[in-house]
Amino acid sequence: MHTDTDILQLMGGREIAHVTYDPETIAARVVELGREITNYYGDGQLLVLGLLKGSFIFLGDLVRAILLPHQVDFLVAASYGAGTTSSGNVRLLYDPATELAGRHILLVEDIVDSGNTINRLVGLISEREPRSLEICALLHKRIARELALEPRFVGFDAPREFLVGYGLDHAEDFRHLPFIASLKE
Ligand code: IMP
Ligand code: MG
Repeated sequence: MHTDTDILQLMGGREIAHVTYDPETIAARVVELGREITNYYGDGQLLVLGLLKGSFIFLGDLVRAILLPHQVDFLVAASYGAGTTSSGNVRLLYDPATELAGRHILLVEDIVDSGNTINRLVGLISEREPRSLEICALLHKRIARELALEPRFVGFDAPREFLVGYGLDHAEDFRHLPFIASLKE
């Protein structure tokens, strides 16, 4: 449990609207997601691809909850500037060195908002001819109109607010928060 004083200190004095998901709620859901993923894949050559930077904490917790041998690599895409709305511009800054062809790929995202990132990455990954491709998103705002691939695994249906913490940032701040909070406008 975090006291109001802890929260103010973590936020550097910046106010949050409310804590949306506390650490215990996140941890319990991540364990369930790990179980769902374990049951879905059975065995096979699973490659978990974490989309940086937003997924870094989620990914660390999630891979320890997937009770199957698997490998882990990363993708780095940039879709946002310093604002809180999607620019629609998604660039790949790091491309995994790992061979994707013939592998079962699980793409791990922090949050699905407009869907631009997923739509762009699904295209790029599919070109490498993986054996299968699925998405695991911790949060889904359910506002994307057309998704190239609907995430098979979703942690929470998120409120349509700007969320920070547990890897999610606002202009690179707040990634370290152990909870997920809605930022005051
Ligand atoms: P999309 O391309 O609009 O679906 O946005 C996906 C990316 O935007 C995520 O991977 C995040 O990095 C960022 N993003 C979207 N919504 C939020 C939010 O509420 N808080 C922090 N980052 C967000
Ligand atoms: Mg971001």
